[in-house]
Amino acid sequence: MGKVISFINQKGGVGKTTMAFNAAFALAKNGHKVLAIDLDPQANLTLLFKAENELNLYHLLVNSVKELKQLHIPAMLSKVIHKANVDLIPGGQELSGFDLTVASINAPRQLVLKKFIEAHGLNERYDFIIIDCPPTLGLLVINSLCASDGVIVPFRPDDFSLKGLEHFYQVIEDIKDMGIVKAPEIFLHVPNLVDLRRKQESDDLSKIISAIDLELGTGKVFSPFLNKAGLVKSLSSRKSVFEFKNQEFSDLQEKFSGVAKRIEEWSHEQA
Ligand SMILES: Nc1ncnc2c1ncn2[C@@H]1O[C@H](COP(=O)(O)OP(=O)(O)O)[C@@H](O)[C@H]1O
Ligand SMILES: [Mg+2]
Repeated sequence: MGKVISFINQKGGVGKTTMAFNAAFALAKNGHKVLAIDLDPQANLTLLFKAENELNLYHLLVNSVKELKQLHIPAMLSKVIHKANVDLIPGGQELSGFDLTVASINAPRQLVLKKFIEAHGLNERYDFIIIDCPPTLGLLVINSLCASDGVIVPFRPDDFSLKGLEHFYQVIEDIKDMGIVKAPEIFLHVPNLVDLRRKQESDDLSKIISAIDLELGTGKVFSPFLNKAGLVKSLSSRKSVFEFKNQEFSDLQEKFSGVAKRIEEWSHEQA
């Protein structure tokens, strides 16, 4: 069975989309079949794939709920999915209406995405499903957590990160308490946009790493990503770092290959 992995942080601008995108291509480069899902109404991941589509994940999710029959529109998965080296189910601004759309259904609202993935056998067709989440802890993200086996948390080491992380761990506990699904494992945190020359930032980062070690056990924090012009350049040309040949990118390729390796190792432990 393929593994579903969410990139989550309720803050924006921490690198969720950047990491999800490049990690997906790093996994594909290692020969895995990878599906990316854009769960963010802002659809930044979809833009990176150049896969903007009138029909998107929202329509597929609505179609997958029997009780919403009156809202169903002809949107077959095969028409919506963007096929490439890494496949993508695009997101779109309609996703911002998801909470309201499912407010009245009797079926468990937290499990719409999980049931959609299972109904289409996506976890059998792919080795890894990578979900890029919006910067909230709302119902969409709860759906992502309930559908996921593992979670990766990109973060910036500022004062607010620790509070945010604690809040997020609490949400995972709440899912455990619900008792309807197995809560996913937070197996990696990735410090991003770190400036190690700034003392305050190094101090904040050490504090956060200690807190994570204490909460989840050691070894769950990746080595920091620094602020890299190459990453901005690759994103603005909508390409993964693996599409560039020059020296500037070999560091970044190594880092994202490292993230992919952590994902593979974690996935082996699960099997
Ligand atoms: N390590 C990095 N170095 C330089 N720029 C980065 C880095 N990580 C992310 N960025 C930039 O920061 C912005 C926010 O990243 P993004 O992945 O969109 O965050 P999120 O999805 O969490 O909102 C993007 O414009 C991206 O180009
Ligand atoms: Mg994003």
